[in-house]
Amino acid sequence: MVKVNENYLKLPGSYLFSTIGKKVSAFAAANPDKKVIRLGIGDVTQPLAPSIITALHSAVDEMADAATFRGYAPDLGYVFLRSAIAKNDYQDRGCDIAADEIFVSDGAKCDSSNIQEIFSLDNKIAVCDPVYPVYVDSNVMAGRTGTWDPKTETWSDVIYMPCTAENDFAPELPKETPDLIYLCFPNNPTGSTITKDQLQVWVDYANKVGAIIIYDAAYEAYISEDNVPHTIYECEGARTCAIELRSFSKNAGFTGVRLGFTVVPKELKAGDTCLHGLWARRHGTKYNGAPYIVQKAGEAVYSEAGKAQLKKQIAYYMKNASVIFEGLKSAGYTVSGGVNAPYIWLKTPDHMTSWEFFDYLLEKANVVGTPGSGFGPSGEGYFRLTAFGSYENTVEAIERIKAL
Ligand code: MLT
Repeated sequence: MVKVNENYLKLPGSYLFSTIGKKVSAFAAANPDKKVIRLGIGDVTQPLAPSIITALHSAVDEMADAATFRGYAPDLGYVFLRSAIAKNDYQDRGCDIAADEIFVSDGAKCDSSNIQEIFSLDNKIAVCDPVYPVYVDSNVMAGRTGTWDPKTETWSDVIYMPCTAENDFAPELPKETPDLIYLCFPNNPTGSTITKDQLQVWVDYANKVGAIIIYDAAYEAYISEDNVPHTIYECEGARTCAIELRSFSKNAGFTGVRLGFTVVPKELKAGDTCLHGLWARRHGTKYNGAPYIVQKAGEAVYSEAGKAQLKKQIAYYMKNASVIFEGLKSAGYTVSGGVNAPYIWLKTPDHMTSWEFFDYLLEKANVVGTPGSGFGPSGEGYFRLTAFGSYENTVEAIERIKAL
């Protein structure tokens, strides 16, 4: 008789943002007169930049003509996009990454959950706590995380690296040696960052113990401070220990368009096996390539006009971040993040749990945020607000919170 993958049955509850979505829909249905402001999931609200729209239109027109029509995309991505990424995101920053080390995909969420497939099930993962839930859940589905302890809300075979106010929300090297280390900077959910020197410590450590760092740099475009690295390949030795995940969702508003990429350097090995070849095999077998029109839109992100327009879009969201940060601070909240990231991390008032504060905010201010505990046990007592709303809604949400 057919059996399910029992690892799925170990997953507690539903995906964090699905749970929040359901709660908010129920509240909105019961309170049709209330204007709910959503600062929960990190979904963008600004329209695509004009140069991206132009690229999309012209790519659509190409698809209407037999002479320029495209079928399947190359499974690893079109050369025009891979070259633009290699040049703009890496070579122009002095990082030695070639176009054929870039694997174009439909987004960093999929890549961050799929990448674990090329590693052995007995590899041990280390994650920050709090953490973007996809890293852990995808390893649970694969059967790599052991058993769930509902009391501590942790998995027996996962190394948790607490990121708390005490360590400035930056993880310390783990006591137990991991095989795979997930790092995300600028960080989701805390909005914290680490300096290039701090990241170099991780790269040196991974090379020393033979671990691989899976570095999620989805929020790189929001970096405003000079000593914060834009890519892990700014660190010496990263080519032999790091895979980098990147997204077009947050820097160019592609959450509904879907585009991302993963960098796997050719030197990167697990034992004697080259991971570049393994990921290419996985990608080629399970993926048919991001659509041509979307990859043309991605190319426009790197045009001079695209860069200028996106700089303005990032500035727009970062103005929201500052409204949230300053507004909450002036109201007496303890806040962090929001300087190099579109997320503001705040301590819940009056010792409320994260979910209590979620309900309180939804009920009393009709504002949606994300409970910190949804990202891991060290997130308990914290709450995340996103800067991706409209400016007007952001200002209104903060005014409502201040009036509570
Ligand atoms: C978030 O809110 O954490 C992100 O938007 C989720 C994602 O990028 O998948």
